[in-house]
Amino acid sequence: MNALAKHTADAVTVEENLAIQQENAKFDSQSATDLAMQNTLLVPRFYTTDFDEMDAIDVTPVRAEWDKLIGQMKADPNKGHFRKNADWDSVDWEGMDPALKAEFLDFLISSCTAEFSGCVLYKEMKRRGNNKDICELFALMSRDEARHAGFINDALREAGVAVNLGFLTREKKYTYFRPKFIYYATYLSEKIGYARYITIFRHLEAHPEHRFHPIFKWFKEWCNDEFSHGEAFALLMKTDPKLTQTWANKMWIRFFLTAVFSTMWVRDHARPEFHKALGVDIDWYDQEVFRKTSTIARQVFPVELDIDHPRWRPNLDRMNRAFLAMDRAKARGGVVGALGRVAAGANAVRAFVALYTIPVKANVVPEDVRLEPAY
Ligand SMILES: [Fe+2]
Ligand SMILES: [Fe+2]
Repeated sequence: MNALAKHTADAVTVEENLAIQQENAKFDSQSATDLAMQNTLLVPRFYTTDFDEMDAIDVTPVRAEWDKLIGQMKADPNKGHFRKNADWDSVDWEGMDPALKAEFLDFLISSCTAEFSGCVLYKEMKRRGNNKDICELFALMSRDEARHAGFINDALREAGVAVNLGFLTREKKYTYFRPKFIYYATYLSEKIGYARYITIFRHLEAHPEHRFHPIFKWFKEWCNDEFSHGEAFALLMKTDPKLTQTWANKMWIRFFLTAVFSTMWVRDHARPEFHKALGVDIDWYDQEVFRKTSTIARQVFPVELDIDHPRWRPNLDRMNRAFLAMDRAKARGGVVGALGRVAAGANAVRAFVALYTIPVKANVVPEDVRLEPAY
């Protein structure tokens, strides 16, 4: 066995990376791990799937593009990047406004959980598979996600909290998704991750006075990793045209787009102080991320949501109000609380249906799928 790399940024395999994180776990805190353990809409989930079905994918139809992408990922341009260096300004956690601190910690914990959710799923695919192409891809992607999660945990540790990733792997509930749903959901979350990170990075490049924490300086290389992961899922979907072209699957793609976008809207609106500190208007930011993601997704999705439709924004707001009402009802408890939860749930469903039934824009998918980061 090779000697362990000292830092998660230098780890070349996911196993090596997780061994380092396990070593650090003795410092990890209960409250952060408890938050990451929750299974609510606002906390990222862990997924499992039919690994044998995924292992049977034949990438021959996209071989040329596949080999190029894998070559780029193997070259590992971001090895060593995800660690603190001289650019890491000291953070005044003590002096930070308490409301901002709470929201920012919540943001970091939820981001770390999301990164780690990808890591666990990809690592499991690599472990269970026999298909050389698939195992190679998933090894590379889990390597990246472990670094991302490890880096966020480094930032959290400075504030005296960190997520126990070993504990999460063992104890958090896993949601089963059949492979095609994994493709839609994961493709979207990788591309949305890219769009979110690059939009914040560009905004802070123009307004450095709002960069209240150094981690944002790392977002550019970070989002390029996510972009590559999204490319891989685009190629996987391209291997089988049925995945994106049948009527039923178009309806599923529409469903995932609506679910992922509206969830992001609700999550982001739960963090007003965080966005205020960044100098970002949440409505603007979310619409901007939807726009970038929609444009990128034309590479593989035959339908696109109409985010300028008159029903779009009002129903996102309605969805958000329903979730706030749900929280209030839960806090209240008792019969009134229970009735309040039913009413809020019904409102959320009505808002979702109103969003889901907005006519979509049809899109002719190009022959050549591959894109490079353009924002
Ligand atoms: Fe990531
Ligand atoms: Fe990723």
